[in-house]
Amino acid sequence: MQTRAGDPGAFAQFDLERVDSPAFVVDAARLRANLQVLAEIRDAADIKVLAALKAFSMWSVAPIIGEYLDGVCTSGLWEARLASEFYDGEIATYSAAYKPEELDEVCRLSDHVIFNSPGQMERAALILESARAAGQDFDVGLRINPMHPTGEVPRYDPSSPGSRLGFPVDQLTPEIMAGVDGIHFHNLCEQDFEPLHATWDKVFDAIEPWFGQLKWINMGGGHHITRADYQRDELIEFLRDTKEDTGAEIYLEPGEAVALDAGILVGTILDTGFNEVPVAVADISATCHMPDVIEAPYRPAMLGESGDPETPAVRIGGPSCLAGDVIGDYRIPGGAEIGKRFAFLDQAHYSMVKTNTFNGVPLPSIWLWDSETDQLDLVKEFDYTAFRDRLS
Ligand SMILES: Cc1ncc(COP(=O)(O)O)c(C=O)c1O
Repeated sequence: MQTRAGDPGAFAQFDLERVDSPAFVVDAARLRANLQVLAEIRDAADIKVLAALKAFSMWSVAPIIGEYLDGVCTSGLWEARLASEFYDGEIATYSAAYKPEELDEVCRLSDHVIFNSPGQMERAALILESARAAGQDFDVGLRINPMHPTGEVPRYDPSSPGSRLGFPVDQLTPEIMAGVDGIHFHNLCEQDFEPLHATWDKVFDAIEPWFGQLKWINMGGGHHITRADYQRDELIEFLRDTKEDTGAEIYLEPGEAVALDAGILVGTILDTGFNEVPVAVADISATCHMPDVIEAPYRPAMLGESGDPETPAVRIGGPSCLAGDVIGDYRIPGGAEIGKRFAFLDQAHYSMVKTNTFNGVPLPSIWLWDSETDQLDLVKEFDYTAFRDRLS
């Protein structure tokens, strides 16, 4: 998978020695710039925009997100709890499956409770009824599967054949739609406007009979809106038209676009060697700190990577036992020396939320930098207890 982010922005001027290693450093100014773009689109199109916590849930910056967006979307009870504890605005919760014992609290915390199937909705009917009788105020949504694959990688395409995500759009019936306040679909991953448009064409015909009943339509995430070359004008026009055609409130819930290019992961070279190619072991691990490198897979961009063919590319891997814990081959500026600091770009989203302590590898600390004021604060550091306390 080819990543389309990797703009160093202000990090080009950041001295990597100012933080410990490994460390995530998030630039508050870039975060605000992304949020400003999203808020401008929200205002121009007269829609609502929620930040997807699954992508970026550094809750110390929740107040910044709350200044710009309408709320957050969450993936289940624990994210909904995090949202209600720290974030402002609306909470829309969607989970592929809820446990019955979680639902009452999900209903209490969420403005939108979105189900993955009519069967789950039906089984939850009594819980929803008693939650409402107890005064809880929430809408019920159904996630549909547009059955319109648009993605480069099937693993990231909810419309892939056989997908469990969302109810197949061609199976909707009036009985199923009877208690549904809103429709949700999420069909994109790091994509431009056109795949959204094509998805909507497919969805439109199937849900048209319920325009008038639907209070809202949530178009999920995967919109790469804050990338400089995204087609923002087309998106605004489309959203305005859609709102008018459907009479529904329109929601977008981007995750990656909120934190795009807003953070780096700083590491240090611990050892070097040669095995057919130059190799290096770092204190950053693909498997522990950037699992999407292996899962997607993709090659993260390195801050200031040398373009000089004279600088040999070094195969950088993590300190874990996994042979495949390899980040990639890089020309480290100035060469790969022991003790050398380096950083990977665009690591604020989907890396910080996915870290783990396999092999007892330490978790990166989390720093907040403001490139406009140069203020740098250590938000959180993790010690041995973070590893110990999630085991027993
Ligand atoms: C239901 C849902 N909403 C929103 C998002 C956020 O997507 P992205 O971070 O690609 O914008 C995802 C990502 O998987 C998702 O599954």
